Amino acid sequence: MRDVNKDNITDVFMSYFGDDTDPRLIEIMQSLASHLHNFARDVNLTHAEWLKGIQFLEASGQISDETRHEFVLLSDILGLSSLVDMLHSDSRGTSSSVLGPFHIAGSPPLPFGGDMKREFEGQVLLACGRVTDTDGKPITGAELDIWQTAPNGLYSSQDPAQDTYSFHGLQTTNADGRYAFTTVRPVSYPVPTDGPVGELFNATGRHAWRPSHLHYIVKAAGFRPLVTEIFPDDDPYLDEDTVFGVRSDLVMKYTERPAAEFPAGYAISADVDEPFLLADFDLKLVRL
Ligand code: BEZ
Ligand code: FE
Repeated sequence: MRDVNKDNITDVFMSYFGDDTDPRLIEIMQSLASHLHNFARDVNLTHAEWLKGIQFLEASGQISDETRHEFVLLSDILGLSSLVDMLHSDSRGTSSSVLGPFHIAGSPPLPFGGDMKREFEGQVLLACGRVTDTDGKPITGAELDIWQTAPNGLYSSQDPAQDTYSFHGLQTTNADGRYAFTTVRPVSYPVPTDGPVGELFNATGRHAWRPSHLHYIVKAAGFRPLVTEIFPDDDPYLDEDTVFGVRSDLVMKYTERPAAEFPAGYAISADVDEPFLLADFDLKLVRL
């Protein structure tokens, strides 16, 4: 086609595919081009604005490496990651939520009743619950990959002062499908703002904060893996999570209990001498 114009360019694009192209790739590329073209038409995109967008993407690539994923962050703060997540979440189970960029493989085993708080300052949180199927039947041997920030709001991969696996643990549910561990109360924290995404926040008057949360990946044989997070109901950022990760069924309550009620048999049972927080949260998996 040589007579390309602003009205037919989208249709012309549609015809530019080789015969052996994967049909799903054609579907995705055609829809993407169609939305991009209509976006440019809708806002009457200027050359200068187009260039600014290209420079933004280039800068996002330049700041990215194995541990810094600016494009994922961009997708997160645009709501795209959460939308994709919700499109494939199964409402029969616990809602899924964003993975985020701070999960690391190879977390050390965290036995039932084990502790992630160690020497860190802050109130003890006892996090526990059951992993069940959608009928509420406990799942024994489910694997929980757990991670959170330290009290300074940083994940271990962001903070040279922490060990690689600080505030990361891998627990297997017991015979009753239960998990339990102690940690420190998670804090709200801002996503990284020292790159192009930070500039976008500034330009659009947005804050970078996420409500405090615990991340879980839950896996059990015969069930869909669940990537999720749980949030306390008193967090000030609950209704304005900058990456849109909060779902109402992921919101839980901390209840404060006197030290005397701390259960026996936990790694830190003998050391708890101040009121602690309890978060009892069940995680429901959907069968494959
Ligand atoms: C997180 O919760 O770790 C996270 C999620 C999305 C972007 C940045 C951080
Ligand atoms: Fe997080």
